[in-house]
Amino acid sequence: MLLLGIETSCDDTATAVVRDGKVALSNVSTNQDAFHAKFGGIVPEIASRQHLALLSAAVQDALERAQVGLDAIDGIAVTAGPGLIGSLVIGVASAKALAFASGKPLFAVNHLHGHIFAAFLEQAAEPEYPFLVLLVSGGHSQLVRVDGPASLAILGRTRDDAAGEAFDKTARLLGLPFPGGPALDRLARDGDPRAFTFPRHRAEGEALDMSFSGLKTSVKYFLDSAAGREAAPADVAASFQAAIVDVLIDRLDRAARHAPYRAAVLSGGVAANSALQAAFRAWGERQGIETLVPHLRFCTDNAAMIAAAADRQGDVVRADPLTLSADPSLPFELSTF
Ligand code: KG4
Ligand code: ZN
Repeated sequence: MLLLGIETSCDDTATAVVRDGKVALSNVSTNQDAFHAKFGGIVPEIASRQHLALLSAAVQDALERAQVGLDAIDGIAVTAGPGLIGSLVIGVASAKALAFASGKPLFAVNHLHGHIFAAFLEQAAEPEYPFLVLLVSGGHSQLVRVDGPASLAILGRTRDDAAGEAFDKTARLLGLPFPGGPALDRLARDGDPRAFTFPRHRAEGEALDMSFSGLKTSVKYFLDSAAGREAAPADVAASFQAAIVDVLIDRLDRAARHAPYRAAVLSGGVAANSALQAAFRAWGERQGIETLVPHLRFCTDNAAMIAAAADRQGDVVRADPLTLSADPSLPFELSTF
């Protein structure tokens, strides 16, 4: 099955052609960072205007790179939510028009399910069900149990900031350019993660929730203090990163104690973080659990992951091209459209 994927939930205008939910024949993403950088964050109105300007060409581009015509495509998979409403609407309206005009089936995919099925793209070995997911992005941080393509449950989530948001806000405090996560990761490589001790959120009892806003605030107070003004930015970055990684791995470890998982997946934009990847792999080795991190190009927002999810979820996410509407707060549980 050959699916055309369309993803416009935030600030990446992304399209892809994916074969059998595994092979990305093309994976195109037009990064809008240059348009948002001067505002220090994503401006929703700019994001939707850019999607509108770029999407038709991005669809053409994905088809050309995959060397297929629209007639060879078996279906169209689009992100229906969650995300920015103005951004989602551009992708959803385009996918509906394409599906209606071509008579091809339309699949409405949850963006977060896309991040999870990114782990099945271009891999020698696929994770075996049930598997555990630590999904960490700019908008979400959660632990997910996956029993099958259409059977997913959130086990725990952040109470406040997402991990990526904490990275971005702390990077800003350190005067790093937007987007802050990758810049902080690079700076931290020259720093000592034990230089300063920032607070780690503790879960109560069996709880699997997490919190990062206190950590970000404590970095802010520290930087405003006399010691903070003297501190090497690389040491602050490395110490902050160590605290966030500790909390994430602690919650993952607690989640893994609840059921006999064979595999664990690290996914979402923050999965690109070098310290988190190293800690995740070391944890898997200690626990005897197979660990899988999607390729970098499938960790951050992309359309191949949306096609990969649709390929596996099939009829469960089949949508009507006349009535589908974007849902900025689409619930994680599978809904019918
Ligand atoms: O999944 P994603 O591309 O978009 C959302 O769905 O949110 O994640 C973007 C987030 C941003 O907060 C970005 O700073 C963070 O992922 N990120 C990183 C790294 N690369 C991307 N955070 C820490 N270290 C990185 N290397
Ligand atoms: Zn995302």
